[in-house]
Amino acid sequence: MAQTSSVAPTDTAARSVVRVVRGMPASDGAGVRLTRVIGQPGLSELDPFLLLDEFRSDNPGDYIAGFPEHPHRGFETVTYLIAGRVRHEDNKGHKGLLTAGSVQWMTAGRGIVHSEMPEQEHGLLQGFQLWVNLPRRSKMTEPRYQEYEPGAIPEATLENGVHARVIAGRFAGKQGPIDAAATEPLYLDVSLAAGAKVQVPVPGGHATFVYVFDGTAKVGASGTAVPKGTLAVLGDGDGIALRADGSAARLLVIAGKPLDEPVARYGPFVMNTEAEILEAVRDFQSGRI
Ligand code: CO
Repeated sequence: MAQTSSVAPTDTAARSVVRVVRGMPASDGAGVRLTRVIGQPGLSELDPFLLLDEFRSDNPGDYIAGFPEHPHRGFETVTYLIAGRVRHEDNKGHKGLLTAGSVQWMTAGRGIVHSEMPEQEHGLLQGFQLWVNLPRRSKMTEPRYQEYEPGAIPEATLENGVHARVIAGRFAGKQGPIDAAATEPLYLDVSLAAGAKVQVPVPGGHATFVYVFDGTAKVGASGTAVPKGTLAVLGDGDGIALRADGSAARLLVIAGKPLDEPVARYGPFVMNTEAEILEAVRDFQSGRI
């Protein structure tokens, strides 16, 4: 589904919603039930973003199988956990535990093989995985992890019922800890109390979306209603108007600089050409990832 909003007033560069996409049920890993928001027929990608999954269930049968060993090459995976615990381990000796409120920004680069498994047998597991593409010059870089505990993510509380966790980029005088030079991302977790409103600055030219995961938010210059489980793609401009009317809302605001390069994609490998994909498959099959 899609809808076009009215043109923004000429005296402001506020972005308008140009498209609304509903997440769809999907299954991945060893049978984890999730909502696929980017990387599905309704929105196959939003350069530089290749995939967005929301996982959220208090039924262990939906998540317990996890994501056993699998490779990645050519991009970054960003795991942001809202509730629960996820154990990760890779074939380069890196391992750790993600807890509620923490983020892992993993640059797969030339490749890793890792597992991502729930470390709980009951209770709520909730979070997101975002895939951010890398430019040609960085696809074969050495793997790198940026991991931050909940307390290391700056939070901004505004007077008017607006609260934001700043994972990447800058908002309300807070700088997120993530360094991702190629795409200069903004990644905010924004909570709006009923009646709250805020203007979020976003660099001009960045691909930008809002994903609402609680309540309904009014998004963009014309206040398009975006309900829970729905993503709004924003047109260009300097900032996004957000507000919650009758009840609270919580959402992700994510933006990044488009790479504008060819995308060749096969499962967990995202390169520029088919030949590079075949090379990735061969490297994985022969243990070179
Ligand atoms: Co993975």
